[in-house]
Amino acid sequence: MRLKKLSRLRPTLAIVLGSGFQSAVKELEIDAQIPYSRLPGFAPPAVRGHEGSLLLGRLGGTPVLVLSGRAHFYEGHPMSVVTFPIRVLAAFGIEALLLTNAAGGINAAFRPGHFMILTDHINLMGVNPLRGTPSEPANFTDLTRLYEPGLRQILRRAARICCLAIREGVYVAVSGPSYETPAEIRAFAALGADAVGMSTVPEAIVARRCGLRVAALSCITNLAASSGANPLSHPDVLESGRRVGVLAAQLLKNFARLYGREDSHCERPTA
Ligand code: HPA
Repeated sequence: MRLKKLSRLRPTLAIVLGSGFQSAVKELEIDAQIPYSRLPGFAPPAVRGHEGSLLLGRLGGTPVLVLSGRAHFYEGHPMSVVTFPIRVLAAFGIEALLLTNAAGGINAAFRPGHFMILTDHINLMGVNPLRGTPSEPANFTDLTRLYEPGLRQILRRAARICCLAIREGVYVAVSGPSYETPAEIRAFAALGADAVGMSTVPEAIVARRCGLRVAALSCITNLAASSGANPLSHPDVLESGRRVGVLAAQLLKNFARLYGREDSHCERPTA
């Protein structure tokens, strides 16, 4: 496989950097980097503020594969394209995946700048990435405890090291690209959602299908529609994500370091 020629590092952890988390790249000791435009099947993200490259390196001393930027469903890509990189990670030998994103806060206690560990999700994107075709059977995949308690525990410990009061909650995924109406946000709150966003869920479902351990982390960049006084704008959401960049980077670095310690205790057959 072409990726394996890039570096001798063989990470078992991958991190997808959404907006709000891009600054983690500055903490990465980069061994190799390749733009998505040179990776067959990877769609370059179209939205400003989402970079598109795959990096291999060490974060907090732990080998990691980082996907900086992602293709979104709202850009018009089919789900097979949105989730293709996850299938590549599985083929590469990745065992654990941390997905990150920017999200609007629904929970009344959430403020911009807070971080939320996903405990579960509600998929309101209107599509499922495992949908079959008439010639390919659909996959019936269990999604109980999709966001793995062991990885969530590592995220909580990483937050404690950063002296960060981390939140936990349910993420509702919508297709976008419009933000939600106040009535939708009231409905999502009634359904039990704490934050809303336009990514992550398709990747999490495909990662589970591929047998990966999954965790996900949201940066609350704004209050969701009904609660905010001002209209939402994409540049404001990106700017809010950038403001918490240093903290986001420290959180991910500590997560990778703690994951590496846990991983080194795992018995794995040598290839
Ligand atoms: N809604 C949907 N997606 C988002 C939001 C939001 O308020 N903020 C960041 N991503």
